Amino acid sequence: MIKKIVRFKQVGSTQDTAKHYFEQHQEIAITALMQTKGRGRMGRVWYSPMGGLYVSLLLFPEERMSSIPLVAALSVIKTLEDLGFHNLSIMWPNDILLNKKKVCGIISESYKKAIICGIGLNVNITKFNFSSNHATSLRIESGRIFELEQVLNLLIGRFNPLYNQLRKNGLKIENFMHYMSGIGEAVSLTTNQGNIYGTVSGLDDDWSLIIRDENGVSRKFYYGDVRCLTW
Ligand code: BTN
Repeated sequence: MIKKIVRFKQVGSTQDTAKHYFEQHQEIAITALMQTKGRGRMGRVWYSPMGGLYVSLLLFPEERMSSIPLVAALSVIKTLEDLGFHNLSIMWPNDILLNKKKVCGIISESYKKAIICGIGLNVNITKFNFSSNHATSLRIESGRIFELEQVLNLLIGRFNPLYNQLRKNGLKIENFMHYMSGIGEAVSLTTNQGNIYGTVSGLDDDWSLIIRDENGVSRKFYYGDVRCLTW
């Protein structure tokens, strides 16, 4: 349960700053107005100028919980619904799409006995430093400007009860399926071993992705990056 938020103006990465609080053994959120070394999954850079929400949750779950990033994803979705957004979905494993464009990325890293779950939400960003029609922000989609502090408070308020639920009796995969996008779509999956092309046939109970590849073979993946080829 996150009871405290520690705020910074600028850090390298809130993922690394969070590690400095490990010894206190308290579940907290670390946030910064901008990051100079924001990182994404699969070794990517996370573009982190002023205007985005950058937060890392330092968590001490009793057991290894692979669903934590999903709980974070669902918390972001609920927060965005609270702010009046619709057409939200989760792209496996845990990107959040708004109107089919990526508005939020989530990374989960283990550190000693802790899990550090990082959430990057494009809130008021109007321009990206890369040409991508796959990225968007709340401001771009709505024309509205948001108070980062309000968004953060909503997010923590949504995260805590879901995280408690996960710890008590486990959240069922069905909670997420409702928002899952990409099923039945032709996709490319980027993995450390290269690209795989195929059609998403579904998700397993352990949240692994099942892809029917070009040769008609069903394969299971635990790691990677999905891109829909049809949109
Ligand atoms: C991704 O989609 O690849 C995940 C992006 C995660 C970005 C967040 S921003 C807050 C935290 N600090 C980081 O350096 N990364 C995560």
